[in-house]
Amino acid sequence: MAATGYMARKTIADIVGSADVEEGRKLSKTLGATSITAMGIGAIIGAGIFVLTGTAAAQFAGPAITLSFVLGGIACAFVGLCYSELAAMLPVCGSSYTYTYATLGEIFAWIIGWDLILEYAMGAATVAVGWSGYIVSLLRNVGIEIPPTVAAAPGTIVKLPDGSTLTGVINLPAVLIIAILTTLLVLGTKESARLNNVMVAVKLTVVVAFIAIGVFFIKPEHWHPFIPTNTGQFGSFGMSGILRGSAVVFFAFIGFDAVSTAAQEARRPQRDMPIGILGSLVICTVLYILVAAVLTGIVPYSELNVPDPIAKGVDAIGLNWFAILIKIGALTGLTTVILVLLYGQSRIFFAMSQDGLLPPMFSRVHSRLHTPYLSQMLIGTVVAIVAALTPIGVLGEMVSIGTLFAFVLVCGAVIYLRRSDSDATRPFRVPGVPLVPVLGILFCLLLMVGLPLITWLRLVVWLVIGMTIYLSYGRNRSVLRHPERKRAPV
Ligand code: ALA
Repeated sequence: MAATGYMARKTIADIVGSADVEEGRKLSKTLGATSITAMGIGAIIGAGIFVLTGTAAAQFAGPAITLSFVLGGIACAFVGLCYSELAAMLPVCGSSYTYTYATLGEIFAWIIGWDLILEYAMGAATVAVGWSGYIVSLLRNVGIEIPPTVAAAPGTIVKLPDGSTLTGVINLPAVLIIAILTTLLVLGTKESARLNNVMVAVKLTVVVAFIAIGVFFIKPEHWHPFIPTNTGQFGSFGMSGILRGSAVVFFAFIGFDAVSTAAQEARRPQRDMPIGILGSLVICTVLYILVAAVLTGIVPYSELNVPDPIAKGVDAIGLNWFAILIKIGALTGLTTVILVLLYGQSRIFFAMSQDGLLPPMFSRVHSRLHTPYLSQMLIGTVVAIVAALTPIGVLGEMVSIGTLFAFVLVCGAVIYLRRSDSDATRPFRVPGVPLVPVLGILFCLLLMVGLPLITWLRLVVWLVIGMTIYLSYGRNRSVLRHPERKRAPV
């Protein structure tokens, strides 16, 4: 392994070779293409479609939110191809963090690991806020009123059914769901995986049912104008509105990359990973476009800026039983996403800790439960605090920009590795390199441009904080650059 300087990078042999022996945890290779696709769908369909579609349609794109989904889907297809090549080539845990370590070197690996906190931990917080919106709505259906002040972040204006408004103080239901799922993850992941499969099935059924029933209630006049005229402000309807809408609902696609963290458990990673990643992406994109079209066809887009827009769509249909079913399905769907994101975050921290870039507590495994309990509890606590205090719009945009940035680096990694390690075995090859990764990079940058300046500033501040931590901690502790510090499995 190359061991000095900031550009220190692991070789591909280091990474693949260490996968089976390191960490004292041999993972069984039991997953086939279907389970991996199901896992992808479990991670993908969540707050993006159940919540952000409504807000983005109402504020940015109108019925053209459908086109925003098309744009987001195209960007993800290019990135998905790149992920497939890397996941099949480096079938190890840690996702893009690991790929970057093997390509651009330690400092970039740290940047991406730090950046992934935005995707995973902040993503979990975002979805938890979405969960809160649906549980409040469901409980209202059964006659239980949760005071809006304790179910919304400070400063959030909540509209009451009688038209009056209240300001949120804290989002307690979001805290509750994170606490429950963190407990589950601490207790053991096998149980969580089984529960996940059932919940994925429920979520898919609900989404398909919404499309199949909703299509009969579409009023085509709601689609006119399909692209509302721009209000004079960038991102507020018109073409730039489609772009901003796309950057916001990009959140809905996040998760297909989480599938790559299962590469070590795939039976035939070279075949199963590309099928799983691209398959789940294609299925979700088609469903999203249909849901967006049906939703904006049932309800005038201007009325969709609510915490539970899909439920609002069903209310407009007037089938009360179906509204309750949809809410239960949405809650189930959101739960699986939070579960995968909280789980993924702890595994990325695990890999970073094993590499010496984070303190040893992040790779401490409970002797009986075999889970990284301390890390998982710390993650749960921080995510719960963030979810309790931050509005979903702010969170969602941060997650989108952080993930898009990570995707840019992943596409870059494919191009770089083709040159630096041209002889490495590539069970799956992205067609048309460098064109496809370059298109991936350009589409991601385009979506990033669609996000407001304040979100860019937040990303810069986040990265500066990360760099300070790396320079004062990780750089001095890195196992790669100080092999004598290699940690025994704990
Ligand atoms: N794609 C996931 C969601 O929409 C993160 O909730």
